[in-house]
Amino acid sequence: MSFNIKEIIQSRSGQNYDLHDTYINPSFSKVLKIIGFDRFYSKGKGAYLYDTQGHEYLDFICGYGVFNLGRNHPVINKAIKELLDLDYPNLVKMDAPLLSGLLAEALVKKMPRGIDSVFFANSGAEGVEAALKFARASKKKNKIIYTAHGYHGLTYGALSANGDSHFKEGFGELLDGFVQVPYNDLNALEYELSKKDVAGFIVEPIQGKGLAVPEGDYLLQAQNLCRKHDAHFIVDEVQTGMGRTGKFLALEHWNLEPDIVILSKSLSGGLIPVSAMLGRRDIFNQTFSRLDRCVVHSSTFSQNALAMCAGLAALHVLETEKMAENAEKLGSYLVGELNARKSRFELLKEVRGRGLYLGVEFGPPKSLKLKIGWNLLHKADQGLFSQAIIMPLLDKHKILTQVAGHNMDTIKLSPALCITEKDVNRFLLAFDDVMEACHRFPGPVWEIGTRLARHALKKNAHLSIEQQEFQN
Ligand SMILES: Cc1ncc(COP(=O)(O)O)c(C=O)c1O
Repeated sequence: MSFNIKEIIQSRSGQNYDLHDTYINPSFSKVLKIIGFDRFYSKGKGAYLYDTQGHEYLDFICGYGVFNLGRNHPVINKAIKELLDLDYPNLVKMDAPLLSGLLAEALVKKMPRGIDSVFFANSGAEGVEAALKFARASKKKNKIIYTAHGYHGLTYGALSANGDSHFKEGFGELLDGFVQVPYNDLNALEYELSKKDVAGFIVEPIQGKGLAVPEGDYLLQAQNLCRKHDAHFIVDEVQTGMGRTGKFLALEHWNLEPDIVILSKSLSGGLIPVSAMLGRRDIFNQTFSRLDRCVVHSSTFSQNALAMCAGLAALHVLETEKMAENAEKLGSYLVGELNARKSRFELLKEVRGRGLYLGVEFGPPKSLKLKIGWNLLHKADQGLFSQAIIMPLLDKHKILTQVAGHNMDTIKLSPALCITEKDVNRFLLAFDDVMEACHRFPGPVWEIGTRLARHALKKNAHLSIEQQEFQN
């Protein structure tokens, strides 16, 4: 009998949750069932997902940002198929592969001044690990500064630089020498840097958790402070890169010139795991400092030809289809429309972000009736309100969104960069409907919240789930 993946998918379709309950992560599958996210997706194309019943979903999570270019982009799919048909010699290892050289050359051209060298890895966290190691090796200093609510992945080095204690609990001792400072606080940063033992300061230009944006010239000043105190300025563009904020790199909004940049997620169009840590040649030379240290940092799947090929195709698509420009244009339209709704919806507090990397924050209402619902939900669990917003967005309107972090009243919007004005209008109509419902107390959104609160209280479990906490 021949192997046929199409037949396997067809014959086992619908068993997804049973298999996950048995073999993978029953807690996650339980949570998905509680919040009504237990769908059976059978197709992904562009900005949309389709389930086995034929419903079309507008995907505003976008695989946590790996599908900036849309799902299953034909140019990227074709490039991968063509490479497979070549019987290309992948991962020879004792070799200098052409495709990684070409992708490195293309990426360096898109980097700020000074960055001319690339280390390829397989995930965002692995790119971050490389940055932390190269920073320490080149500065010959130990300390790493990171920001509160910063997120850089969940391996031990990246986790040591995680600004949310929730992720760290239960995993024992983390790495020594990691110090947290508040985001947007230059005094705290300078205080730590001035101790002169800092190898690097790692920061996301816009934070993924809560979508905190830099105030004024925070990032430029942070860069200057790093220079002054001889520490690397490391910009994590794993999620903000590849056009997400309206520019290839978010750091271009502030004309930053960091020492190290990390890219991942959409770098391969979302199809093959990949990341790139980019820095100056001297940082690389100080790490691969002798012939016997020439592979002192490496990874078996690094420079995988399929990922490199997808990366070259992804850069081509990003440029020719002007995805970053579309993110800028439609992001501005969406922000403008959402801001215009503030006077109409008292629970709508703030809209922030750049391009199509947006956070919508809700805040306590003034009217007495709504206050009752708001206080009840927040007493049960600080993150339930935003959870109660994303549920009807999916259930009633078939729009997939996520909460922006643990215990936050913020939802995150990060659709594919190929969305159209029609998609934005579809979201706005759905948003209006859910907002109108939650401005009625009692009403359907509060009922969802109460149901979740009952679960939370019964199980003494936090249901303010950020999907990322389960997967990344
Ligand atoms: C800014 C940032 N850095 C690093 C990571 C970690 O990437 P990965 O999940 O691929 O390890 C993420 C993941 O969401 C991220 O958003």
